[in-house]
Amino acid sequence: MSLLVTGIGELVTNDPALGHGPLGLLTDAAVVVADGVVAWTGPATAAPDADARIDLGGRAVVPGFVDSHAHLVFAGDRAQEFEARMSGARYDGGGIGTTVAATRMASDEELRGRLRGLVAEMRRQGTTTVEVKSGYGLTVADEVRSLRLAAEVTAETTFLGAHVVPDEYRGRSDEYVDLVTGPMLAACTPHARWVDVFCEPGSAHAFDGDQARAVLEAGRAAGLGLRVHANQLGNGPGVRLAVELGAASADHCTHLGAADVDALAGGTTVATLLPGVEFSTRSPYPDARRLLDAGVPVALATDCNPGSCFTSSMAFCIALAVREMRMTPAEAVWAATAGGAAALRRTDVGHLAPGARADLAVLDAPSYRHLAYRPGVPLVRALELPG
Ligand code: NIG
Ligand code: FE
Repeated sequence: MSLLVTGIGELVTNDPALGHGPLGLLTDAAVVVADGVVAWTGPATAAPDADARIDLGGRAVVPGFVDSHAHLVFAGDRAQEFEARMSGARYDGGGIGTTVAATRMASDEELRGRLRGLVAEMRRQGTTTVEVKSGYGLTVADEVRSLRLAAEVTAETTFLGAHVVPDEYRGRSDEYVDLVTGPMLAACTPHARWVDVFCEPGSAHAFDGDQARAVLEAGRAAGLGLRVHANQLGNGPGVRLAVELGAASADHCTHLGAADVDALAGGTTVATLLPGVEFSTRSPYPDARRLLDAGVPVALATDCNPGSCFTSSMAFCIALAVREMRMTPAEAVWAATAGGAAALRRTDVGHLAPGARADLAVLDAPSYRHLAYRPGVPLVRALELPG
């Protein structure tokens, strides 16, 4: 069964081979989809025949968003913590313990319902690939449970046992790292593709550089890919550690020194920026221009979680990146699609070149620019592909 999608006013393919800039932008375009895969893209006038046909009436199409950083397995919320922050309280990760307590108490059914609800909410807003972390269980059984649930909705599962030191290990963080790198990792590895750690030496809750290295090296030895929560609350070793160990992504990058930018520019690690976090914690935004101008690959993601940022909207993150971080609309759309795919080391999503997964996000707008130009407006309309 093949489908010709025509009448596309503007098509973002992210296919540099087309010679239309990094977005591989086509106007008055068409796409042929067969068996869930892009079979052809090009000018509508040159489109081949297909079994079925739909006309989008001049709407823009972008690749489905790739949200490469989200924490979706949790119970409860922290709306009061958010309200306090908006009145001046600082975010320091201390509230994570509240979510850990609520998550441990919750049934599988409750967690599954919340998780599926959030994934559906993301999908309605154009996200077609999402990474989901554990990290609100922090016991062997609760981390395994979180990852089993995550694996029901995505292949991009991340073991984040080293999110914070749980209350019962307060003052004994090295012992907790031994648990994470030992029995917890062993139990979680079958359910995870990635390992992550919250590396923040100045924090009373997270992990210092040596502990983060221990977690990442153990994860790597177990066969997991690496990702790091790095330099969110202050300058620290997280970004450089991520690059040194060949992590797929260093996430947050809110506080960067010259050595961090140089390391990222010389390595293979994507800098994943999470501007919804700065929005929701009233923090300074990361210096995206400095990274882009240094040639660092940049991704945008939501970090959807009940504490530091409870948005599920990639379009909102694009709008913030353009308004607050001086990314161009083209850079921001690339970062939310191809950038996210790079951060997950995926070649089948984040673009619409032939062979890609047919994840088309149809916009109720004539141009990708409207994702930033019309902030807060739900522009993504679902496209039901037959077959
Ligand atoms: O990416 N920084 C650590 N973890 C999350 C926040 C989790 C929470 O506050 O519940 C983050 O911002
Ligand atoms: Fe996070």
